[in-house]
Amino acid sequence: MSETGQVGAGDEWPRSVAIIGAGTMGLGVGEYFAAAGVRRIRFSEATPELARQVPERLVRRVRGHVEAGLLSEEVVDRASAVEGADDVASAVRDADLVFEAVPERMELKHEVLAACAAAAPEGATIASNTSSLPINELAVAVEKPGRFLGMHWFNPPEWTPAVEVIPAPATDAAVVEGVMGFLRRIGKRPAVVGDGPGFVANRIQMALFREALACVQSGLASPREVDEVVRSSFGFRLPFFGPFIIADMAGLDVYGSIFETLERGLGESFRPPNALRSLVEEGRVGTKSGAGFMEYTDEEREKLLLERDRRYAALNELLGKLPPLEPGPDGDR
Ligand SMILES: NC(=O)c1ccc[n+]([C@@H]2O[C@H](COP(=O)([O-])OP(=O)(O)OC[C@H]3O[C@@H](n4cnc5c(N)ncnc54)[C@H](O)[C@@H]3O)[C@@H](O)[C@H]2O)c1
Repeated sequence: MSETGQVGAGDEWPRSVAIIGAGTMGLGVGEYFAAAGVRRIRFSEATPELARQVPERLVRRVRGHVEAGLLSEEVVDRASAVEGADDVASAVRDADLVFEAVPERMELKHEVLAACAAAAPEGATIASNTSSLPINELAVAVEKPGRFLGMHWFNPPEWTPAVEVIPAPATDAAVVEGVMGFLRRIGKRPAVVGDGPGFVANRIQMALFREALACVQSGLASPREVDEVVRSSFGFRLPFFGPFIIADMAGLDVYGSIFETLERGLGESFRPPNALRSLVEEGRVGTKSGAGFMEYTDEEREKLLLERDRRYAALNELLGKLPPLEPGPDGDR
């Protein structure tokens, strides 16, 4: 979201959005939509009383961001224009886009999605913010499931760029395109991903967390030390590069050797992956050989590495200017 809060929804689709569940995610996504200029936003909550409190809660949240210099004052007016509806049916009745963000329980989501599908206009897109429930299993509750898909935002939704867009087999291609176009227009970085367990981000994030915890439990480091190593080593690279290009820059032969050591010490879940082995055998070991997971001319490689160094230097400078974010003392776990 830009500082002006103008990221471009304007008069285009969707002109009217219903958000079901105004918790951590629903309220934050509502703030983002309001700042982006979506004209009409209606919330429903677990009770009519909770729904009536939503506009005031949203205004408070926006004011906090205005005071921090992150949003312009005009977003306060837009937030105060959102409505709280008594129930799902009244929230969705003239919505172009319905965004479901109720707690992560299959039966509850089925109940809420069925109510959305029954009362929303036929042409409305219905999206679930589920973090991990299979979209295809959620889709069974939606009458005319061609209009249903996953639209998984990340916390805090106003400031985290990614949104995973997850079609089910029945989802119409035009619905996916419409959602992708809208998310791009309002300044997000969406990606279409498959309906596998945890989709892409949570699968990778949880694998990282499982190993972080294993490092602590085997006495290698405290939680604080693990956090420091992760954020200041490979975590430092992640604002700019994903795991494949990082691997190409490190050298896939180097990765192969590390996997072998890990397999010897930690077992077969760390066996060097066949896809990695094959690339190394073909001599595709990354930027240094001109090809790895991607291909690089000499000129592209030089440019990439120099640009990498520029960005790392800029990030170091930014981090040096920010005050440290110190958490409390170590716990006893
Ligand atoms: N918190 C995160 O970091 C995060 C990130 C991405 C996705 N998600 C997903 O987003 C969804 C919502 O998560 P959250 O963290 O915002 O949860 P939350 O508990 O903060 O909010 C859920 C809201 O839904 C309301 N609610 C409950 N029953 C309802 C009903 N029948 N009708 C309307 N509203 C109802 C609750 O009162 C609450 O305000 C979940 O599927 C979660 O997995 C969460």
